[in-house]
Amino acid sequence: MTENVGRRRTAVITGAASRRGIGRALAERLASAGWGLGLLDIDAEVEKAAAALRAEHGVPAVGAVADIADPDSVHAAVCAFEAELPPVAALVNGAGVSSPVPFLEADLATWERVMRTNATGTFVVSRRIVPNMAERGYGRVVSLGSTAMQNGGGTYSKSVYAASKGAIEAFSRALALEVAPRGVTVNVVAPATIDTDIMGGRITDDRKPAFLAQLPVGRLGTTHDVAALIEFLLGEEAGYITGATYNINGGLRIG
Ligand SMILES: NC(=O)c1ccc[n+]([C@@H]2O[C@H](COP(=O)([O-])OP(=O)(O)OC[C@H]3O[C@@H](n4cnc5c(N)ncnc54)[C@H](O)[C@@H]3O)[C@@H](O)[C@H]2O)c1
Repeated sequence: MTENVGRRRTAVITGAASRRGIGRALAERLASAGWGLGLLDIDAEVEKAAAALRAEHGVPAVGAVADIADPDSVHAAVCAFEAELPPVAALVNGAGVSSPVPFLEADLATWERVMRTNATGTFVVSRRIVPNMAERGYGRVVSLGSTAMQNGGGTYSKSVYAASKGAIEAFSRALALEVAPRGVTVNVVAPATIDTDIMGGRITDDRKPAFLAQLPVGRLGTTHDVAALIEFLLGEEAGYITGATYNINGGLRIG
């Protein structure tokens, strides 16, 4: 992809509705860099997010309401992106749900809710978008993992969430291998303790010390920290990186 062609490109971001979320921060960052944006979320706020980016940055942006685990609604959303936006060169699987329920209190419904959104949803959206990337010979996929998968649970979420992120990471590594010859890279970004609503709501001053005690860098992560890393992995220059997991966790876990 040349620099000129590169400016006529779209990134699809799932989970881009939440005002304080990682997907929204990434959408704003990519819009300032001139990307076209297909924003997909179960929350109708996503349409307003796309409209705001169009108005503020003058980029093509479409917001579509869809459940990432429902192939029909994902198909309809992606068709709308394909009809109105430049070719999809990047996919960020950011939509997800947390689960602070400990194993001894978790039932099958807990497991199925979390696995359905996080693991099945990542598969469904990738299955709809990656084949077209492979056909065009170019693509960048980044999926959101979590330190919870590596650390035996997170600073907020517990075993069921960790399992769902383990599925995403294993899937991403194997997918990376399968599509590497087709010019598509697939990587995982694994954050911890980013101050978004998925942490059981805002990390208020009374909750903060318990989180900070686990973070060697002495502060919570921001959505901008994560968005900057993802933007790099979506770039043309990141083409030699695939099947990798990038930890972004303030030193919560080393290695
Ligand atoms: N915040 C953290 O500390 C942290 C740590 C590790 C991993 N992550 C991961 O980062 C990703 C983004 O999380 P965030 O912190 O921005 O949380 P967030 O709650 O702000 O954003 C999640 C978004 O996903 C959307 N969503 C949920 N279920 C959906 C579905 N079925 N279909 C479509 N959209 C759906 C929500 O509406 C929301 O807009 C998630 O995958 C999360 O697991 C976050």
